[in-house]
Order: sequence, then C-alpha cells, then structure tokens
Amino acid sequence: MEATRTTVCVGIDLALAQASAFDVLVEELVASLAQSGMGFEAGANGRVTAGEFEVGRVVVWKPGELIRLEWHQANWKAEEVTTVEVRFEPVEGGTRVTMEHRGWGGLISNSTELASWFASSVAVPFLQATAPASLGNWLTDRQARRPSGAQAREVYRDPLYHYPNFHVILQELALSPDDYLIEVGCGGGALLGEALKSGCRAAAIDHSSDMVRLAQEVNHNAVAQGRLVVRKASADRLPFPDATFTCATMTGVLGFLPDPVAALRELWRVLGEGGRLIVFGSAPAMRGTPAAPEPMASRLRFYEDDELQRLAEEAGFAKAQVVRRDLEPFARQVGVPEEHLALFAGLGAPFLLAQKS
Ligand SMILES: C[S@@+](CC[C@H](N)C(=O)[O-])C[C@H]1O[C@@H](n2cnc3c(N)ncnc32)[C@H](O)[C@@H]1O
Repeated sequence: MEATRTTVCVGIDLALAQASAFDVLVEELVASLAQSGMGFEAGANGRVTAGEFEVGRVVVWKPGELIRLEWHQANWKAEEVTTVEVRFEPVEGGTRVTMEHRGWGGLISNSTELASWFASSVAVPFLQATAPASLGNWLTDRQARRPSGAQAREVYRDPLYHYPNFHVILQELALSPDDYLIEVGCGGGALLGEALKSGCRAAAIDHSSDMVRLAQEVNHNAVAQGRLVVRKASADRLPFPDATFTCATMTGVLGFLPDPVAALRELWRVLGEGGRLIVFGSAPAMRGTPAAPEPMASRLRFYEDDELQRLAEEAGFAKAQVVRRDLEPFARQVGVPEEHLALFAGLGAPFLLAQKS
C-alpha cells in the first residue's frame, strides 16, 4: 500500500436474493443521488455525473453480482482515476452488499490527513445516519412526509386507513361534472380516483417524484383523457394560474407543512370566486396515536380547531370553520378490520371547511 492510497469499504448483509438486492440498491442510488444533485444513469453504459462532469463511468455491469465504475474524483486533476466497486455476494440467508472505493487517497497529502478525511467524511455521516435525528427524519420522509420506495408505493396505491377521510371530503365537496378540483399532497392518487368518479376534472401536486408517478399510474385513464394532471411541485408554489379551480382539498399533509399559511394562500389564489376548500386537520389528540406515531409525531405540527380556522382566515379565506366528523361509520364501510375500528372512534376528526369569497 502506498502511503496514502487505500481502500474505503462499507457493506451490509441483507435477507434478500442477489437480484432483489441489486434492483433495490440501483433504484435507490438513482433516486438519492438525484436528490443530492448528482445523476446516475444505470446500466452497462451508465455513468454518474455532477453537473456536466462525468464522475463515474460504468465499466462492468452484471445485474445481481457486480457494478464497477471508473471514478474521477477531481475535475481539476483528470489523471486521478480510481475504482468504485459494488459487489453482491451470497451469504447464508441472503446477500452481502459491499461498496469499495479502491486506490483512494491519492489527493490527500498524508496518512494523518487521510484518517481525518475518513473520520469527518465517512464515519461522521455514517454515525449521523444511525442516530435518532437523521433516522427519525429518514423514516418520516420515507413513510409520509415525502414517501418513496417500493413499500411506500404499495401503501399509497390503496391506503385503506385514509379512505374514511376521503369519504368525508367527498361528502362535503359533493362534486359534479362542472367541478375542477385541486388536491395538494395527493400521495398515490387514491382520493383523486374516487373524486373523478363524479365526472369532475382534477389537478394535483406532490413533492415526491414517486407519488407523482404513482398517482398518474393509478389514474392513467383520466390522465389519458385529459381529465387529470398530476405534477411535481411544492404546496407553497402551485404551478397553476389564479382562479383556476372550483374546489380544493388537502389530507394528511397540513401537519408536515413548515408554512401552512403560505400553502393555504396558494390554494386561495388558484381557487375561483366562491371556491371551496376542505382540509383534514391534524389535532393535538392525534399525537402519538397510530395515526401519528413516533418518530413522525415529533416532526408534525398539530393544530387546535381555532388555530386551524385562523390559518385559513390569515390566508385570505372569507369564511372558515372547523367541523368534527365521525370517521367510524366510514371505516366500517370501507372494510377496516374490526380490531382497528377503535382507531376511528372518538370525538370526531377535524376538517377545515373554507370558502374563498
Ligand atoms: C401522509 S401523505 C398523504 C397522501 C394522501 N393525501 C393520502 O391521504 O393518502 C402526505 C403527502 O403529502 C406530500 N407532501 C408533504 N409536504 C408537501 C409539500 N410541502 N408539498 C407538496 N407535497 C407535500 C407528501 O409527499 C405525501 O405524498
């Protein structure tokens, strides 16, 4: 080993077949690198990019076994080329995934500096990722705040436990073919599917790419007929002109918004005169219950009914009130298992009803 050239290695044993481990890892690398501003074109001629610069080029691509990349760590020193290898090897009960960076360290002046680089750039992110703050954020994002991955796609394709809220929303909106609905934070598009049965048109946004794709797929007929558009966007910046919609809704989203008034103001802007809004609230009584368990609970904002009403008034809505609705009859109707019906019983769930003018 040269003074500063070495191998950096991380790995994990997974109870997955090699092919599955490979597929999941590649999917997640593509999605997570994109989130961090880097590109990964997967496949035999694939590459990893940072802006215009090609950081990595795939030189071996054996699905289920091996990915090898030629790695260019320095755009100021083209001759510094190293190797990144991801191996998928069978171990008892599953697959060992090992990611190795070989020949690393040529640009770091000595072994003391290399040890410091390893501590600050590899060990600390690794420890942070496995400490409560980061893990809690990851779990919250993954499951609800910005759902992604195969498990989230399965849950939000048909979110049984959300259908009781959807029924209240649909009852209150009483949609007709003349309506044009906007939903913010549509998840997998299950509520849209129900709403479209009224013959209305609809548009929706979500800031999760996975959820946007899923909502489009779940409602592909309506998308093809031009009755539904789903776009990736943030609640505080809706990509629609003023006074476009007759009604609006948001469910399971409010508590995650850092600036709820900004999001409500955007809904006010895109609603036409007399446009109506219904938002499923996040009452403090939900904190820590199966509807809002940890680690999500401490990352959510909860609003008393009067606070919720004030948010809508502050956003410009002329009329706003919070009503309580019993979700249990709807939970029975949609087939929530008997042993879970108690989750929907109680004082009634809060819904904000508001009108633009
Ligand atoms: C708990 S899920 C609820 C999904 C769906 N409304 C339902 O009830 O099944 C919350 C959704 O809101 C989206 N979301 C959260 N914050 C958002 C924001 N600031 N802008 C756009 N979407 C957001 C998430 O990506 C996620 O799909």
